[in-house]
Amino acid sequence: RGGRHDDHMGNEIDEQPVVARRVLDALAPSIRDGALWNRLGLPPVEEIDRVAVLGCGTSLHAGRALAGVFARVGRIPTRALTASEAAHEVWEPRTLVVAMSQSGETADVLRALDGLPSGHGTVLALTNNTASSLARRADAVIDCLAGPEIGVAATKTFVAQVLTGACVALSGLSVSGRADAAVLDADLSALAATPDALSGALHAWRDRAADLAADLVTASGFLFLGRGAGLVYAAEGALKLKELSYRWAEHHAAGELKHGPLALVDAGTPVFVVDDGDPRLDVDIAEVEARGGRVIRVGERALRVGGLSLQLPRTGPSWGPLETVVPLQLFSRELALRLQRNVDKPRNLAKSVTVA
Ligand code: M6R
Repeated sequence: RGGRHDDHMGNEIDEQPVVARRVLDALAPSIRDGALWNRLGLPPVEEIDRVAVLGCGTSLHAGRALAGVFARVGRIPTRALTASEAAHEVWEPRTLVVAMSQSGETADVLRALDGLPSGHGTVLALTNNTASSLARRADAVIDCLAGPEIGVAATKTFVAQVLTGACVALSGLSVSGRADAAVLDADLSALAATPDALSGALHAWRDRAADLAADLVTASGFLFLGRGAGLVYAAEGALKLKELSYRWAEHHAAGELKHGPLALVDAGTPVFVVDDGDPRLDVDIAEVEARGGRVIRVGERALRVGGLSLQLPRTGPSWGPLETVVPLQLFSRELALRLQRNVDKPRNLAKSVTVA
């Protein structure tokens, strides 16, 4: 299987730093001069009034991360749409529609595109299958370069979609005059650091995730919290957990805790917190701990100086703390293995969902 694990999913998780490197080697050199954007034949960013990103499941989460790039760097009104709910969407001209699907065969995505009126704008397909129905349907296609993904749970395609999308968006924005220069520069530096950040997360969490799964194997429900760009990763963590372990998992904006979900927290309730550096998370964590919840914080960047542990202030990239998906994937897989689930083929699910 080309890796150290007996299952595809474990190997595909491990592959993520290599996939990130492949995406950046292929695309990063043509970001700054807009060549990547132009090569795709996309209209100049000045001619785009809004962006709509479409997808399902993990691809929708990648789409939400990508939406953050258009919105934060370019200040372009951007929405991420659940493809199966897009039927009554009001489409406006000069919209860039980014359709995200690793398989390129997801019926909900194809059907959502059927609802687009003619002259609405341009459709860019972001897919791991450039010979797919989605690729044929779109005006422009970008390959997310993940390589074959066998596990039903999307892992390396998620990372590849986020990075490919970010490269494309930053390329168009770089030459547009609409980019916030400071955010753009910070994003370009963060892109280059991504493969190392992913491999650092793999090394830091491999054993820890296994220990944690052993500890939490009897937990019946899990909460995942995040704020801002971190929320997408909380959502992805909750999806991976339920898909693989068949345990209940919910994600919430941490600020919503006090509006309801806090009632779920009891002694020992596991609560994953995706830390994107927002200082308000400390208060959220204190609220959970005060009710006896067990907080597992991912994404913290602790720096040890002379025996003291300091939190580094973070101004994360506009797509959020991508490397935090690694511990969440690892934990879900470890828990599922302990529960004797088939991590490559969860019950009731298919790799490619061709019915709407
Ligand atoms: O092929 P797609 O990316 O369009 O698939 C979308 C979802 O069905 C998919 O991401 C699903 O949520 C995964 N199994 C999650 O791991």
